[in-house]
Amino acid sequence: MQIAIERNPLDQVDTETLVVVVPEGRKEERFGAAGLFDQGEVAGKSLELTLLHHPAGVVARRVLLVGAGKPEKWNSGELRKLAATAVRHLKSKSIKQVALALEGSLANPEFAAAAVEGAILGDYDPDRYKTGNDKKSIESFTVVTEGAGPWLEQAARQGQIIAEAQNFTRNLVNEPGNLLTPSKVAEAARQMAAEYGLACEVLDRARMEVLGMGALLGVAQGSAEPPAFIVMRYQPASARGSAHLGLVGKGVTFDTGGISIKPADGMEKMKYDMAGGASMLGAMRALAQLKPPIPVTLFMPCVENMPGSRAQRPGDIVTAMSGKTIEVINTDAEGRLILADALTYARKQGCTHLVDAATLTGAIVVALGHLNVGLFASDDGLRDRVLAAAKAEGERMWPMPLEDDYKETYLKSAFADLPNVGGRWGGAITAAMFLKEFAEDTPWVHLDIAGTAWIDESKPYTAKGPSGVPMRTLVRLAMEWKD
Ligand code: BES
Ligand code: ZN
Ligand code: ZN
Repeated sequence: MQIAIERNPLDQVDTETLVVVVPEGRKEERFGAAGLFDQGEVAGKSLELTLLHHPAGVVARRVLLVGAGKPEKWNSGELRKLAATAVRHLKSKSIKQVALALEGSLANPEFAAAAVEGAILGDYDPDRYKTGNDKKSIESFTVVTEGAGPWLEQAARQGQIIAEAQNFTRNLVNEPGNLLTPSKVAEAARQMAAEYGLACEVLDRARMEVLGMGALLGVAQGSAEPPAFIVMRYQPASARGSAHLGLVGKGVTFDTGGISIKPADGMEKMKYDMAGGASMLGAMRALAQLKPPIPVTLFMPCVENMPGSRAQRPGDIVTAMSGKTIEVINTDAEGRLILADALTYARKQGCTHLVDAATLTGAIVVALGHLNVGLFASDDGLRDRVLAAAKAEGERMWPMPLEDDYKETYLKSAFADLPNVGGRWGGAITAAMFLKEFAEDTPWVHLDIAGTAWIDESKPYTAKGPSGVPMRTLVRLAMEWKD
């Protein structure tokens, strides 16, 4: 999608469709629209769409009025949704050219970035594998504003970088297990790193054996596909302070459950079990261009969890890289096993702060539904930074408890240092407590995105499928880092 800025007066904007924001309670007198408000046909309710053909007084061929809802609820997140809704609606009508007006108080950098993000995210559909020539897409999106100065171009560029990186994440997440194996994730990572000037290294099975990553290797042994551990580094030209942020992402390219096999119903969705790692690859892609002030390193252990003849069994005991022994009670709790070794490795690589993202538990979906990411933190300062970044990005997150009692009550093994599951109750919390054993004393935040990385039903502003969450939060966290 071509992104442009135009500073002409609204009536002179030459476009197929001009999108105009309509706050609830304000009558739009232009474009010959006043009558629609008088009759009550248009009220400016949130995401209400009214397409006007041959609008009066403007060069644009159409005007799309989009309701913005109550002004007191208004923010850049709402504008992102509004722009996405407009784009999705117009694209379904085969329109290719869209301009969106940011008038009055909306003419600021935050809103310009949000409008561009909304347009690019709204244009996304996971239709890569559909053949046929009826695929639609918006070709150009223009922000129309009276604001002067280069801030607008900068903001639009930033929005474009972030949204394209989010769509990069969504494309990876949507790839099926047969086409995106651990080796293919590594190939995609290497290619992206080369394109954006990041250092990338992939540890193979032999290297993992030398490093003693027994927990990760135990999961990998059931599949004919070899595991791959992606390490990608961003280093600022001149680093501020001594912080080093480590992003650790679950990369299970397909989760059958292993010997503790999952039911057939819905198993096809388990291709999204690498969404945590993919969101971090997307974050690295954006950060390489936006250049935050601190070093950021990504750690993405990639495996396929299969019940092959070499697969690990319930009751197996593995030794993690940290030296701790784990009794594998359930082979379907594989995410925490691969993350255990990834967290240890990230610590040994000198990360001072860790954030992991993982489609870790069905239990977090029971607890929070599909609307909030479950956030667990060992450090209040890092928790607050992540929550603030998430809020600013409209990626909802909710703090969950991380208390030693949970470990003492539920995480006991008679035969090893700890079991890989904690029983029936508090499943998302015991999973987080398990990870905490490997994050040790490094400030750490764990994001359980099992309920939020995949959207089951399309909405006016987004397609069904991968959401890209929590990529934008990670980018903002690094960009706004202060020691
Ligand atoms: N990948 C799943 C978690 C998951 C569930 C992600 C639903 C997305 C949607 C994870 O590996 C898993 O299977 N977890 C088990 C843990 C259990 C065996 C303790 C689960 O949540 O059922
Ligand atoms: Zn599993
Ligand atoms: Zn899994």
